[in-house]
Amino acid sequence: MSVFILDHPLIKHKVALLRDVNTHANQFRELVEEITTLMAFEALNDIPTKEIEVETPLEKTMQTVAVENSVAIIPILRAGLGMVNGIHTLLPTAKVGHIGLYRDHETLKPKEYYCKLPDGIADKICIIVDPMLATGGSAVAAIDLLKKQGCTKIKLMNIIAAPTGIETVEKAHPDVQIYIAQKDRCLNENGYILPGLGDAGDRIFGTK
Ligand code: PRP
Ligand code: URA
Repeated sequence: MSVFILDHPLIKHKVALLRDVNTHANQFRELVEEITTLMAFEALNDIPTKEIEVETPLEKTMQTVAVENSVAIIPILRAGLGMVNGIHTLLPTAKVGHIGLYRDHETLKPKEYYCKLPDGIADKICIIVDPMLATGGSAVAAIDLLKKQGCTKIKLMNIIAAPTGIETVEKAHPDVQIYIAQKDRCLNENGYILPGLGDAGDRIFGTK
């Protein structure tokens, strides 16, 4: 199985607030971060760990810790930026790679305008973050780009996904695990997710 719907009651609660047209940019940004942290708890449940010795006030004990630098966070600009801190809360040293894509309003096809990835990206677990998975074009383009750099362990995390976007990514990249908070009904004629939450980038950055 490659699609995981993380329908925890706390995630549902926060997604309901996120969708609300009356939720303003500052609360919207907080919610995106909080939902991402809750989702990351599950999405990162197989990261590499190692055993280290820890000395408590009473004795020495072997304990499990995460291997540093094994995960890279890859936000799709712009809206994916809103999810980065949600993962940094859990993995503060994770490196960040930026992929700049925007959807052409007429064709809905993604256009790449920026890419800067951390050194050694091919050896890391890459977690692509973007609040919205609509047609799936942007996610497929981001995964293509990472695979061209030699990445083999790729996860995709979206808060809201349309059925067609999930199908497109699954078909193009069946090896990629997709973590979503909620699967919505469909896209409208402009490629917006219904019921959705509107334009995630504009709501995070207050541009409209
Ligand atoms: C939005 C969203 C995704 C993309 C999803 O970004 O953040 O990246 O659309 O649509 P798709 O699945 O049909 O490709 P947008 O292109 O609006 O850019 P922005 O984040 O800069 O606003
Ligand atoms: N991008 C968004 O920000 N929202 C949508 O509904 C679809 C794509």
